[in-house]
Formats: sequence, structure tokens, C-alpha cells
Amino acid sequence: MQIFKQIAPLKAFLKGLKNAGKSVGLVPTMGALHDGHLALIKASRHENEVTVSSIFVNPIQFNNQNDLLKYPRSLEKDTELLEAAGCDALFNPDDREMYPEKSTLSMDFGPLDKSMEGKFRPGHFSGVALVVSKLFNIVGPDNAYFGQKDWQQFAIIRKLTEELNFQVRLHSIPTLREPDGLALSSRNLRLTARQRQRASVFYQGLLQARQALKEGKNLSEIRERITAAVEAYPDVKLEYLELVDSQNLNALHNVGQSEHPIVCIAGYVGEIRLIDNMFV
Ligand code: PAJ
Repeated sequence: MQIFKQIAPLKAFLKGLKNAGKSVGLVPTMGALHDGHLALIKASRHENEVTVSSIFVNPIQFNNQNDLLKYPRSLEKDTELLEAAGCDALFNPDDREMYPEKSTLSMDFGPLDKSMEGKFRPGHFSGVALVVSKLFNIVGPDNAYFGQKDWQQFAIIRKLTEELNFQVRLHSIPTLREPDGLALSSRNLRLTARQRQRASVFYQGLLQARQALKEGKNLSEIRERITAAVEAYPDVKLEYLELVDSQNLNALHNVGQSEHPIVCIAGYVGEIRLIDNMFV
């Protein structure tokens, strides 16, 4: 695997491959890699001749400085994992390479970024959209791979791709989970053993919500019950439980209002913020 810290040599490397007619898949990440990330690499390898992954902890998508400072970093291990997974190139720039000057550009996705993550993490999706745009321009991939775990992020990147005419096909890969259902996440590394035991409450909440929604119950009723169940633990706090249309992210009260509803949850275990979702 070739490792690039700078944009120019990466572009030169890819130009040669593209001229030779090779298809390129991109897997953007912030590192601290787990099997969820590696599933994206696998999907890319399956469909492309060249797979490029990026590891960049993008400062402008963090609305909480403590979260940025404490974001897990494990470049050496990540490099080994990518190598073993058959990734062809790693792009691992530093802040100055990606943002030589402080960026003042901001993007507004209308209703897509006003609810859920967008509501609780102001500026987050503008930062995500900016860095993903930069990565698309730098790599020029034929395909790009994202996880279903960050469904709102995927919906926003889809809108970004349409509006800016990026010539890339987007793929959403199902969420990988621990045996107890907890969605794999780099932030799980920050949970204490006891918090880790409790962290599957959000998955349990999603299962209960899905069941109740299928039985025709209303979201407000379900939300009340799940909030009580989740917050029975002193260090667990529910931030939101929403039922939305998976395409336009419009809020729903019951599953009959959309053909493809998705239920999304976010909350804290201690100071660690976790998110998850499930199609109904
Ligand atoms: P990061 O959180 O590192 O996630 C990188 C990709 O892995 C995302 O597309 C995410 O949805 C996917 N992913 C995370 N957990 C997963 C799981 N359990 N199963 C399957 N896929 C999973 O998302 C970001 O980084 C950043 O916002 C980024 C897009 C790289 C822009 O900075």
C-alpha cells in the first residue's frame, strides 16, 4: 500500500492508473479503524481495480473541541489493517495540507441538515460536506463508500453530489455491529468497561421502537417509553429518537406516512455520544 501525506503525489499516482483505464473506489474515514470501515474497503475492492482510503480527523466538522481532542487516533494499527484488507493507497494529510488557510466556506442543506445530527451538532454537516467535496476533487473516484450508520450524512452527501455534479457513484453499506448489537464506532474505544456494557441500550431502543412502529403505535408514545427505559441508567441520556423518511429526512409520526421510513437514535453514555439507526 502506498501512503500519501500530500495531494500532488497522490493525484500523480492516480492519474497514471486512470490513464490505464483503472476504476477507483474511495473510502473516506477519520481513522481508529474497525470492521465497519473494513467492510467499506471490502465493498470497494470488490467493485474497483484501485481502492483509496483517507484518514483525516477533519477539525471543521467537530462542534465540540473536547470530542476533537479526544478523538481516538491509531495510525500505525490503521495502516496495518488497511494493508491486510488489500487497500492500494492511503491518503493521510495533516491539517495544513487540507486547509492551508482557514476555510470560511459553509454549506446549507436546507431541511436535510436542520434535524437530528444537524440540530444537535451545528456546523457539523457543512464541515463534512466541505471535506468530502475536497476528497472527491482530489481523488476523482468512480465510486465512494459510506456506512449506513451515519444515514443523515449519507443523505447529505447524496444531495451534495447531485448539486455539485460530482461524477461519482455513491454506495451505502449496512452497519456492522458487536454481538450485543452495539454499532461499531471509533468512539466506542472511549467507553469504560461498564459504559460499554450499557452502550447497547440504544440498539435495544431501536429494536423496541421498530416493533412498536410496526404494531401501528405513534412515535410520541414510543419515545416516552424508550426514554424512560434508556435513562433508567444514571449515566445514559437520550438526545433524540426520530422517525423520518429515509430519502428527504422529513419527520414522521407513524410508518404509514412513508414508503421507506428509518428510525434514528442518538444519546450519551457518560460523555461519549453515540448514534444508530434502523430501517423499519
Ligand atoms: P468515520 O466516522 O471514520 O466513518 C467513516 C465511514 O465508516 C463512514 O461512511 C461511516 O458511516 C462508516 N462506518 C462507521 N461505523 C460503521 C459501522 N459500524 N458499519 C459500517 N460502516 C460504518 O464518517 C466519517 O468518518 C466522516 O464524517 C467522513 C465521512 C470521513 C468525513 O470526515
